[in-house]
Amino acid sequence: MSGVQKIALIPGDGIGPEVTAETVNILSKVGELYGHQFIFTELPAGGCAIDSFGEPLPQSTIDECKKSDAVILGAVGGWKWDNLPGDKRPERALLGLRGELGLYANLRPALLHKELKHACPLRADIAEGGIDIMVVRELTGGMYFGDRGRKETANGGQAAWDTEMYSVSEVRRIAETAFNIARKRSRRVTNVDKANVLESSRLWRETVLEVAKNFPDVALDHMYVDNASMQLIRDPRHFDVIVTTNMFGDILSDEASQITGSIGMLPSASLGDGGPGLFEPIHGSAPDIAGKDLANPVAAILSAAMMMRYAFHCEREAAAIENAVTRVLEQRYRTGDIFSPGMRSVGTKEMGRLIANEIN
Ligand code: IPM
Ligand code: MN
Repeated sequence: MSGVQKIALIPGDGIGPEVTAETVNILSKVGELYGHQFIFTELPAGGCAIDSFGEPLPQSTIDECKKSDAVILGAVGGWKWDNLPGDKRPERALLGLRGELGLYANLRPALLHKELKHACPLRADIAEGGIDIMVVRELTGGMYFGDRGRKETANGGQAAWDTEMYSVSEVRRIAETAFNIARKRSRRVTNVDKANVLESSRLWRETVLEVAKNFPDVALDHMYVDNASMQLIRDPRHFDVIVTTNMFGDILSDEASQITGSIGMLPSASLGDGGPGLFEPIHGSAPDIAGKDLANPVAAILSAAMMMRYAFHCEREAAAIENAVTRVLEQRYRTGDIFSPGMRSVGTKEMGRLIANEIN
C-alpha cells in the first residue's frame, strides 16, 4: 500500500462517535510511523441520519462509500428510533451498506486474550484451553435479503413470512472465503447449517462439499446449528473457522463473542469483491453508556487492524495495532466492561491514548 487512502468514516449513534474518534487517532499514529496518509470523510448513517435527513442511509453516504478505499463504522441504532417501521429503522443503514457495497463475507474473529481469561464465562478448565475462532458469516443473502411480507389468513387473522434462499454461486464464494482464511490459520473449517430440515441448507452443504474438493489440505466437518451452539460453549477448541449463513452467523457470532469475555473487544470486517470493505466493532450503539467516556474502544481499534490487513494488505501495521492492544491489557488497563478487582480503571479516551502510545 502506498500514497493516500480515502476512508469513509461513519461514526453513527450512541457510543459510535466515541470509539471511532479513538480509532482515527490510532490510524494517525500508524500513518506517522509507517508512512501512510489517511483522509477521513465523515458521513451520516443510522439514527442521526434519520434525524437530519429523514432516512437512515442517504444516497450521498452510499456514493461516498463507493468512492472510498475502506469504510469504518462505529454503531447505529438506539431507543429513540426503536418504534419506527422496519424499512425506516437505523439498522436499515447497515443492511443497505452491505447490499450496496456487495459485502457478502463477514469475518468475525472471537479471540480470548489470555489477560481476560477471568472474564470468560465458561468453566476455568475450558477457558484455559483458549478460544480462537473465526466466524465467516454470509452477509448479503438468506433470510435477511429474501422475500418477505404479510398476509391475511383464511380466518381473517394476520400472518407474516421471511424467505431463506441461497444460490450455488452465493454459497460457493463464501465457502471459498472460509477455506482461504483457514489456510492462514489451523486449516480446519466447520460448516454450520440445518441440513436435516431445510432445503436451502442441503444445497448449502452440497456446495460446501464441492468447494472443499479444491482445498484438500483443509479439514472440513459439518454441524447442525443447534449442535454448534452447544459445542461452542462445551468445547470451543473444536472450532477454527466456522462458515455459515447470514442468520445462523448473526446468532453464533454473538455467542462466540460472549465467551471471549466482552463484546467490547471484538472487531469485524465485511468484504466483497473489489470494492471497499467495511470495518466495524461487533458491539452495538450502547445508548445507556453513550457520551460518558465509558465505552471500550478496543473493538473499533481492532477493526482498524482488520482494515490494515484485509483492505490494504499491511500485515505489519495490523500486527502493530494488535500488539499495542495486548500490551495495554498486560499493563492491566481496563474499561468498565472488562474491569475486575486489581485492574486499573480507564475511560474510552484514556484507553485509546494508551494504545496509541504503545504502537511502534
Ligand atoms: C449485526 C447486527 C445486525 C445484523 C443488525 C443490527 C441489523 O446484529 O451486525 O450482527 O443482524 O446483522
Ligand atoms: Mn448481530
